[in-house]
Amino acid sequence: MSQPHLRTVVVLAAGEGKRMKSALPKVLHPLLGRTLLGHVLSAAAPLRADRTVVVVGHGADQVRAHLAEFAPEATPVLQERQLGTGHAVRIALDAVPEVTGTVVVINGDVPLLRPETVAALVEAHESAGAAATVLAAEVPDPTGLGRIVRDAEGRLEQIVEERDATPEQRGLREINAGIYAFDVARLREALGKLSTDNEQGEEYLTDVFGLLRDAGEPVAVHCAADHVETLGCNDRVELAALRQLLRDRVNEGWMRTGVSILDPHTTWIDVTVTVERDAVIDQNTQLQGATAVGAGALVGPDTTLVDTTVGAGASVVRSHAVGAEVGPQASVGPYAYLRPESRLARKAKVGTFVETKKATIGEGSKVPHLSYVGDATIGEHSNIGAATVFVNYDGVRKHHTTIGNHARTGADNMFVAPVRVGDGAYTAAGSVVVSDVPPGAMAVARGQQRNVEGWVLRKRAGTPAAEAAQRAREGASDEAPAAREGERIHERPETMGGPVNAGDTATE
Ligand code: UD1
Ligand code: MG
Repeated sequence: MSQPHLRTVVVLAAGEGKRMKSALPKVLHPLLGRTLLGHVLSAAAPLRADRTVVVVGHGADQVRAHLAEFAPEATPVLQERQLGTGHAVRIALDAVPEVTGTVVVINGDVPLLRPETVAALVEAHESAGAAATVLAAEVPDPTGLGRIVRDAEGRLEQIVEERDATPEQRGLREINAGIYAFDVARLREALGKLSTDNEQGEEYLTDVFGLLRDAGEPVAVHCAADHVETLGCNDRVELAALRQLLRDRVNEGWMRTGVSILDPHTTWIDVTVTVERDAVIDQNTQLQGATAVGAGALVGPDTTLVDTTVGAGASVVRSHAVGAEVGPQASVGPYAYLRPESRLARKAKVGTFVETKKATIGEGSKVPHLSYVGDATIGEHSNIGAATVFVNYDGVRKHHTTIGNHARTGADNMFVAPVRVGDGAYTAAGSVVVSDVPPGAMAVARGQQRNVEGWVLRKRAGTPAAEAAQRAREGASDEAPAAREGERIHERPETMGGPVNAGDTATE
């Protein structure tokens, strides 16, 4: 489609946001995956503006740093003192003297604004050939907002700030949303005429409307379909309210595309997340950042995923994951912690009370219980016994452990990295593996067991343990009189110390 107008976007973000009571500038507060400023810039993005100017002031360095990352194409312009919204727009336009056409001005604190609404405002403004168009909305509670004052014919007469309004004007419920489209040339001219003759002694952008109208220029009002979009954010209570509204909007969007959200009130999905069809999101679940959930996957309950991908048909139950990749049909949890660079291949399993970090777990391999897997590569179809620690840290550096394909490692193993366990190798339960295990070998690396016969009867005589032992020895005496002999030490030959894997694939 041809674009008849050049467009410029100006976002006002220099205010302090005093009532947030925060070291962070108000516009940098996060809301489901983006800052307030990020939401506003995203709402304006489809306009494909030739220039985007962001007026910064309070916390300018922080806001600039955020822009460099989030919207490098935007130009920050410093407003050293916050002398009002009119002053802010004047400074912004001074920085881009070459622009013509339409300028869209958006307050930096209206994060629920939708791109469609901005587009409709601009479209209405441009097709009417207006000098200025304001986005307005009827709200249940207009307290603190500028009111739209119309004349007898219903045409915009002026915008009055609440502090400067008459009691009658205060009764109006149609408010200025703080989002406008202007013809740049006529806006520049009107900005030059602003006074500070108001209760706050500031240059009000809103006064431009009265000035233009008095000069016979066409000014217009565009009404927002849903007043919720125009809600601003002045303190943390309002921010929390906006968060709930956005949560509901996001959840509804996903449910309409075929995602099941079992308890929408306790499911928080960032606007940056993607979820495919037939995924099921169970209650108390947060999906954040660049998280992507595949078709038919189950996530939750009680799960937080940050920058994590979950493959089709996988399940992640009561777990926490950051920067992880869960392959298709893989299974995680309950109660797992996947840290960055954890990569589970297809049908891999990370079970209960297992923590992983920089760990690749091959197709069909399992780490079912009570383990730490850090700096490791586990091949395909291997099973790691319960309570295993990949000992990756020597106090100074991290080292890597490699487990081959079809390996079976015993319960309660320590893999002291760097170490390798070959394909098809076994390790005995309780082993501390410090040297490489060749393919197909059985590694036994633990102290030998010795039983001191009759010790309890002699050293703990009269205790319930000694009595129980006595009864057992008497009961067993018919079959095994030898067991009652005096002190004797039995040792189990090492060759009998095969793996006793709580998580052996064969027994699951
Ligand atoms: C403004 C409007 C009001 C409207 C409301 C909607 C004016 C005079 N009033 O009031 O009619 O109903 O928004 O939310 O415009 N800012 C700067 N530099 C400044 C002053 C403000 O960059 O010198 C920025 C703020 O950071 C904020 C935006 O402009 O993002 C609006 O400023 P704010 O002080 O919140 O204006 P309101 O009193 O809310
Ligand atoms: Mg405000």
